[in-house]
Formats: sequence, C-alpha cells, structure tokens
Amino acid sequence: MAARQAVMLLLVVVVFRPGLVHSFQPLFSFDGNSTTHRVITERAVLRKTAEVCRDIAASEGRDFSLTIDDSLSIDKVQRACSSVGTSTSLLSTVIFQTSIAKMYFSNAQVDLIFALSEEHHFDDETFQGGRDVITAGVSAVKASVKKENFVGGRWILGAICHTLQDFYSHSNWVELGNNAPHSALIRPDQPLENLAGKCSHGGLFDKTSKQDPVGGISKDDIGSSHGSLHHKAADLAVNATIELLEDIRLAVGDKNFLRLMGLSQSSVLCFVIDTTGSMSDDIAEAKRVSFNIIDSKRGTQQEPSAYILVPFNDPGFGPLIMTTDADIFKDNINKLSANGGGDIPELCLSGLQLALTAAPPSSEIFVFTDAPAKDDHLKNTITALIESTKSVLYRDLARASGGQAIEVTKSDLSLVTSVIEDSSASAVVTILQVVKNPGRPDNFTFTVDGSLRNITAYITGTSSLTFNLSSSSGVSQSSSQSSGPLASFTTAGNLRRLSLNTDNQTGTWEIRVVSNNPYSVKVTGQSSVNFIFNLVEAHEGAHGDFSLKEGRPLSGGNASLLVSVTGSDTVKVTEVTLFDSSGPTEVNGTLQGFGSGNFLVTFSGVPAGDFVVRLRGEDSSSTSRATPSSFQRQASTQIKTSSISVTTQTNNTNIEPGSTVSIPFTVATTTNGVVNDSATGTFTVRANNDRSYSSTSPSTITIAADSGGKANGTVTLTVPASASSGTQVTLTIEAENTAATDINYAVLRFSVSAKVTDVSRPVCQVVSSSTNCPSSSSLCASSQWEFIANLTDGINGTGIESITIRQGNGTLNTSTVVGTGGENITVATYIASCCSQNVELAAVDWSRKCRDLCGTSSRIYHSWPCDYSYSRS
Ligand SMILES: *[C@@H]1O[C@H](CO)[C@@H](O)[C@H](O)[C@H]1NC(C)=O
Ligand SMILES: *[C@@H]1O[C@H](CO)[C@@H](O)[C@H](O)[C@H]1NC(C)=O
Ligand SMILES: *[C@@H]1O[C@H](CO)[C@@H](O)[C@H](O)[C@H]1NC(C)=O
Ligand SMILES: *[C@@H]1O[C@H](CO)[C@@H](O)[C@H](O)[C@H]1NC(C)=O
Ligand SMILES: *[C@@H]1O[C@H](CO)[C@@H](O)[C@H](O)[C@H]1NC(C)=O
Ligand SMILES: *[C@@H]1O[C@H](CO)[C@@H](O)[C@H](O)[C@H]1NC(C)=O
Ligand SMILES: *[C@@H]1O[C@H](CO)[C@@H](O)[C@H](O)[C@H]1NC(C)=O
Ligand SMILES: *[C@@H]1O[C@H](CO)[C@@H](O)[C@H](O)[C@H]1NC(C)=O
Ligand SMILES: *[C@@H]1O[C@H](CO)[C@@H](O)[C@H](O)[C@H]1NC(C)=O
Ligand SMILES: *[C@@H]1O[C@H](CO)[C@@H](O)[C@H](O)[C@H]1NC(C)=O
Repeated sequence: MAARQAVMLLLVVVVFRPGLVHSFQPLFSFDGNSTTHRVITERAVLRKTAEVCRDIAASEGRDFSLTIDDSLSIDKVQRACSSVGTSTSLLSTVIFQTSIAKMYFSNAQVDLIFALSEEHHFDDETFQGGRDVITAGVSAVKASVKKENFVGGRWILGAICHTLQDFYSHSNWVELGNNAPHSALIRPDQPLENLAGKCSHGGLFDKTSKQDPVGGISKDDIGSSHGSLHHKAADLAVNATIELLEDIRLAVGDKNFLRLMGLSQSSVLCFVIDTTGSMSDDIAEAKRVSFNIIDSKRGTQQEPSAYILVPFNDPGFGPLIMTTDADIFKDNINKLSANGGGDIPELCLSGLQLALTAAPPSSEIFVFTDAPAKDDHLKNTITALIESTKSVLYRDLARASGGQAIEVTKSDLSLVTSVIEDSSASAVVTILQVVKNPGRPDNFTFTVDGSLRNITAYITGTSSLTFNLSSSSGVSQSSSQSSGPLASFTTAGNLRRLSLNTDNQTGTWEIRVVSNNPYSVKVTGQSSVNFIFNLVEAHEGAHGDFSLKEGRPLSGGNASLLVSVTGSDTVKVTEVTLFDSSGPTEVNGTLQGFGSGNFLVTFSGVPAGDFVVRLRGEDSSSTSRATPSSFQRQASTQIKTSSISVTTQTNNTNIEPGSTVSIPFTVATTTNGVVNDSATGTFTVRANNDRSYSSTSPSTITIAADSGGKANGTVTLTVPASASSGTQVTLTIEAENTAATDINYAVLRFSVSAKVTDVSRPVCQVVSSSTNCPSSSSLCASSQWEFIANLTDGINGTGIESITIRQGNGTLNTSTVVGTGGENITVATYIASCCSQNVELAAVDWSRKCRDLCGTSSRIYHSWPCDYSYSRS
C-alpha cells in the first residue's frame, strides 16, 4: 500500500440558518454571469453522454468528430450520437431535453425539500452525512435502472448531483488549490479525513460571518464572499458530476446509461385496449395497426424504444405489459380476445392510469374502446397525470391532453388508424390546435415555416361542418374539393384528415370553419424545431430562486414557465403566449433569455381558463433568404388555472419497504393568486398513488372561520415490505370544491430504497495471461492470446450478475464453479487476436452496489467501491 501523503486538508463549516437556502443558484442566474445547478448538471450530462457515444463509436469502428467541451448543446450531442443518416433526417431532441430538465428540476428541488438539512448541502461540516446522501442515492439510481425505471432514476440522480455540486461551493476544496474533484465523496472506501477548521458561509444571512474570522467562503455566485472563485468551483462541480455519471455508467453499462440520460430518438408505442365482448373487430384493427407500425419501423431510428399494452374489461384491468421486444409485444396483442363485459361502461380510466404512470413523459397513448368509462371518479386524477406527464391521449380526455376524440363506425376504423401512424412518425410538432365547444364559425391562422415537412390538418366535427383553406400566396380551397391545389383529404366518421401541399408557400395560412356544433382543428408537421415548457414557481429564501411547480397555477395570479427551444441553434423566440380558444384570450408573457434556447417566461394576472402555450419566433437556418422565416409551435397539453391552493410540507423523498410516511398538506382558497385569509369552505380530498400502495387521507377538509383561510390535513402512504428498491411511487393529493367546479392538486415523488445488505464487492483475480504473441506487429493477425480470471462475490455476497468487456474485441466465455469456501466462482476466459492485446473486464454483483475491474492494461485498478449501506437512523 502506498504511503499516504501528509496533506493537511482544511475543510470548512458553513453556518446555516433554518429557512435560508444557500447553494449555487438552482435554475436561473440573474447576474448574467454565474453558473447555476441547472447549467452544471446539463454540461456534465452532455459531456459524459458524448464520451459514451464516442467510446461506442470507437468500438464499432465509426467516426466521431464532435469536440467534447463545455460548448456542447443538446442538439449537437444527440446528432453525434445518432449513428445513421444524421445529416438529412429530422431529429427531435424533445425526449433528451425533457430528461435533462427532469434532472435539473429535481436538483433544484433539493433547496426546497431539504432546505433545513445540512448534509444535503454539505453545510456545517457534515461531510460524512453528505457522502452518505450521495452514496445512498447512487445505489437507488442503479436499482432504478436495473428495473428499467429511468424516470425514477433520473429524478434521484438530479437530487444527488445537487449535494455533490454544493460541496465545491461550500467547502474550501477550491481555496486549497485542488484541480480535480474530491473522489472520496463518491467512493466510500476512501477516507474523509482531516476534516477540520472553521469558516463561515458568508453573505447577508450568515450572522457568524461578522465575527472573527470575518467573511465567508461561499462561491455560490460571483457576488458571494468568495465569488472570485465561483467559476473555478462551478467547473470543478461539472467535473465531479461527470465522475459520478461515470460511476453509474460502469455499473449499468453503456446502453442503459444512455437510456437513463434520455438519449432516445423514439417514443414508446402505448395501447390501452377494451377487451369486452363487443370489441373483437377493434382488437383486430389494433392488431393490424400496431403490427404495421412495428414492422415498418424495425431497424430504423424511429423504432419505438418500448411497447406498452394495457387491456381492460369489466370488471378488471391490466396487467400492464411493457417490453422492448417487438415480438413479445406482438405475441401479447395476438393473445388478446374479446369477452365478458356486457353492461357498458367499462374500467377504461383504471387501465389508462396504469398506462400513464408507466409511459415516459410526452408519450402518445391510444385508447380503443366503444363505451363510456365506468370509473369516472378517476377522471380528475387522470387529468392531473396528463398535465404532469404531458402525455397525449387519443379519445376520452382528449382535449386536456391535446389528442383528438375520433368517433367512427367500426367499418371506418381502419381509416382513422392513419392518425396513429402519422403521430408515430419522427419529430411531429403541433402548429395549431383549437377546440370550439360550443361550436361557432371562426377563422384560424397559422404560420408555415421552411423547416416543416408533411403538414397535416385534422378537423373533427359534424358532417355539416364546412371549411375553407387559404395559403400564404392567396390560393384557396374549399371543403367541397377533396383534392385541390392546397390539400387532399379523406373523411372517416367525424374526422377529416388533410395532407397539405405547402411547397414554396411559407407564411401565414388560414382555415375558416363554419359550424355551429362543437369542432376541433389541429395542424401538425414534422420539424426539428420544437419546444418544451414547465411551470416553475418562485420560492422564498434567497433571491430569484425557482423550482418546478406541479399542480395548477392560481387564477388571477402570476405564472412562470421555463421554456426550452429544441432543434435549432439558430432560432430566435419573439413571443410566448397563453392562449384560450374559448375566449378567445391570449396572455402575452415577458421573456428573459438564459442562453442555449432557455427562457423564463412570466405571465401576470392569468385569468381563469384552460390555456395552451404558443410560441412564435424566427428561424434563420432553413432558408438562404436574407429575411428569417417566422415559425409558430403550440404545446399539446393544456394549462388549467385554479383558485384552490394545495401545498405539501415534506422533507423526505426516500421510503424504506414496510414503512409509512405522513405528508402534511394545506388547502386554501385564493383571490388573484393570493390566499384569501377570510375564506371558509369544505373541500373533497383524494389521495391517489400509482402503485396502489395503501394510503389514508381525510375525505374532506374544512377551512374554519378564524383559521387564516387555511386548513391542514395529513395523508399517509405505506410501502409494502415486499416493494423492491428502485421503485418510484408518485402520490397525488387533490382538493375539489363542493360544487365540483374547481380542483387543484400537489404531486409528490418517493423512491423506495431498502437498506443495503450486500457490502462485499466482487473480487477479480487474474489466473493467467498468455504472452505468446509474436513480437512483430505485422504478424499479429495470425496469432491469438488468452486471459483467464476468477471472479467471485464471496460467500455472503449476492453473486456476480454480469461480466462485461469494457475494452478489447475478443471472445469472452464464462463458467461457474463452486470454490473451496462454498462460494460461487465465475471463471472468465477471454481469447483475442494478438493485434488487440488489452482487455478490461467489469464484474457487477446482483445488488449492483459493487463492482470490480480487471484486465491487462496498466491503468487497471482493482477494488472499485461498494456503495455502502446507508441508514439515517
Ligand atoms: C463572466 O466571468 C468570466 C470569468 O470570470 C469573465 O471572463 C467574463 O468576462 C464574465 N462575463 C461577463 C459578461 O461579465
Ligand atoms: C424532517 O422533519 C422532521 C419533523 O418535522 C424532522 O424530525 C426531521 O429531522 C426532518 N428531516 C430532515 C432531513 O430535515
Ligand atoms: C475539468 O476536466 C477537464 C477535462 O478533463 C479539464 O480540462 C479541466 O481543467 C477540469 N476543470 C477543472 C476546474 O479542473
Ligand atoms: C372570417 O373571415 C371571413 C372572410 O374574411 C369574414 O367574412 C368573417 O367575418 C370571418 N369570421 C370571423 C369569425 O372572424
Ligand atoms: C413524409 O411522409 C412520407 C410518407 O407519408 C414519408 O415517406 C416521408 O419520409 C415523410 N417525410 C419526412 C421528412 O419524414
Ligand atoms: C419551389 O421552389 C424551388 C426553388 O425555387 C423550385 O425548384 C420548385 O420547383 C418549386 N416547387 C413548386 C411546387 O413550385
Ligand atoms: C406580445 O408582445 C410582443 C412584444 O411586445 C408583441 O410583438 C406581440 O404582438 C404581443 N402579442 C400579443 C398576442 O399580444
Ligand atoms: C397548519 O399547520 C401550520 C404548520 O404546519 C400551522 O402553522 C398552522 O397554524 C396550521 N393551521 C391550522 C388551521 O391548523
Ligand atoms: C480459479 O478457480 C479455479 C476453479 O475453482 C481454481 O482451480 C483456481 O485455483 C482458481 N485460481 C485462483 C488464482 O484463484
Ligand atoms: C458471512 O456472514 C456470516 C454471518 O453474518 C459471518 O459470520 C461471516 O464472517 C461472513 N463471512 C465473510 C467471509 O464475510
């Protein structure tokens, strides 16, 4: 063992007063030059993702020319990582963008949920506690990935990044002149020693900073006490986050790592299918459509990343089948048969809830049913789920999600399924969507930009509806012409599907609809240029902090969105509005840019209503003309306002199997976004979770007179002892007024994490490495060499789960034998050409807490860490 250098580490206390949050700014920096947790996280994710793609390209003998530095953008990385047809094909980065956003929102939320916890911010000399938070979190991320729960894994990963990053602002690691991350923070086998010394955080709220030693060391932003070192601390925090991501990559493998990062071009294909007796022809149709999509996309970049099937009947629904294997999905659809039911309606919404919680955000879900839902009480919960996952649903609840309710006779069903095929094309964007209910004649304009391909319009309404379409160049076509200069269309049931011919006609188009019955108009196209949005809310504490807001914004109050434009580094956003087609009302937002296509958009005094987000701007990339082309996009999911406020107070996000958590919550009524402290009233309360874990909640809650306009309650959630680590559970707490005209809700996420029992790491022992390769490299191709290693997880370990080749392109064979102590030994035999003389094997144990590396190259390091057991008690 090498002698340890005698370095005097002086790490630091940060005095922390309850209620006052200090860290790198979570989402936004208003001084124009400080680096936020959001930026640190995004930089690290982009650099590590690009490195993984580079390594994969190298192992497949492909070129990878992207320069990996802090100037990477989401678009550049995704493009470089897509292996085929990159230059011309349409690329949507929405999924990657949404995944990164989930990580930084979770990161930012640590300042809210764990505001008072020193260890979550490396405050107050809690180095051991901070490391425990990180290593427990890393275990939970790995467990989530093992269960293919990437959404949950991202959420936990974002949170641990916060703690890790804060270390570099709140300790004097930077002041000590360190130029590399403090690896001991993610490696519990290394000592955290010589942690001594007292300094202060510094800043307005730090009372001790005025005593000797005067000042503080926080590097949270450029205005902090040690603000001159802010950029150095932020750079080190990026490098430390990259090191953490590498640790996770080693344990889960490259493919799963990229899925965790959200680097997937394709969405999931999700069907919720009614299997009651009357549905046999619909099932046949679902079968036909899904097989069509599966077969036409197999092997292409648009191949769905997963398939989800949820059957429902009466009584009963499920089970949910989720698979990445197209053939397994086909088998399951083939097995569906229609039977039972009889009395309409059926348990559609229960099936939908299952699908919504399993499908990744922004998924499109297709529901096949011929009857209204029986489980109508779930409608509000489902609407809330749609709002928070931004899924698009076809059929019931279609309006809230931006989908369409298409009603056709069974014989016309096959025509409608072209809609499913359209929506599963790549990079589909919404240009315009309006619903008129009650119906009245109206004119709608939309902008066609040069990046759009395959523009399609869908109009639903009664057969008496007529329309007139006119293009930017003044050409027009009426609904009496099913094939004309601007479009050709088909009609099926209540749906008209128009394929637009927009050649050389960019600019403003118009659809004039004449109907006095309810109708909807939706215009879509294919383009890389799109956007995502999330509601954010300012919270108390340090200045200018925002975090993700789940639940509805308050009517009459302010609303803020974090909008990120995807797909083009050359677009300029000029306008973001909230549009309510029933008014019509359009609320104009104030934009503040934060670089890389990110904007904070603030709306003041948003009236009551159901809004969609519309974005307009200019794109200078798609044309060679001097004037940039205007574009418009619209989000599918609606934003609904509410005058009920539901807030929760929880400082915990982990639950052990078999335990119960209590979540206090508060309900209030608001006027113009402010709690009305003289209001009274009774509200229906519902708590739902997506795992059907047992949960208690009051059925109603009453705001009494003289209570300041607020009522408190408690919801409990019990995780069964059998729940496995890595399970994510989402709890929704809803409050509805007695007239059932207004509802709001809060969303909480917990991850199940059991105490770790396997703390022994796998051990890799080199048995032999043959050295009979010819010394002349020109002769290498004709000879082979062999490497043999014994790997074991010891008698008390959970066993070796996998052995992977991390370097080398030879052949690996493994066999299992029982060692003298009764332990299982995996004997790995690796044979390779003498032209490739290095190998690196990684062994991971079943608990995925530990791993070992071995091989031939000099940079091989044995004894990588276990993520030791962590218990807060
Ligand atoms: C931001 O900070 C960096 C590093 O301190 C400095 O080089 C740069 O000029 C600053 N930019 C602005 C706009 O203040
Ligand atoms: C969470 O709150 C409870 C009671 O309010 C307190 O006992 C506990 O220490 C808190 N935990 C953290 C991590 O702040
Ligand atoms: C972070 O890592 C990069 C690449 O390894 C290196 O160039 C850079 O100097 C490191 N940053 C700091 C602050 O040490
Ligand atoms: C729609 O446009 C036509 C032609 O410009 C006009 O006559 C009509 O009043 C408009 N309808 C509405 C509702 O604005
Ligand atoms: C437009 O649709 C056609 C067929 O409907 C398809 O072949 C083509 O690839 C699509 N265009 C793009 C840009 O995807
Ligand atoms: C569109 O413009 C291009 C280039 O100006 C021209 O080659 C093409 O024929 C035009 N297409 C139509 C349908 O007018
Ligand atoms: C919103 O504000 C922008 C900038 O002030 C203005 O150009 C635009 O016309 C406004 N849009 C609406 C719908 O009021
Ligand atoms: C609700 O709980 C908060 C603390 O969580 C307390 O300050 C407040 O007085 C309570 N309100 C009522 C009406 O009980
Ligand atoms: C490796 O395992 C084999 C089979 O159990 C055993 O015979 C051999 O002694 C082991 N070698 C080492 C170096 O442990
Ligand atoms: C395995 O676990 C048993 C029971 O806890 C313990 O007595 C024994 O020492 C452990 N063996 C090793 C090799 O750690």
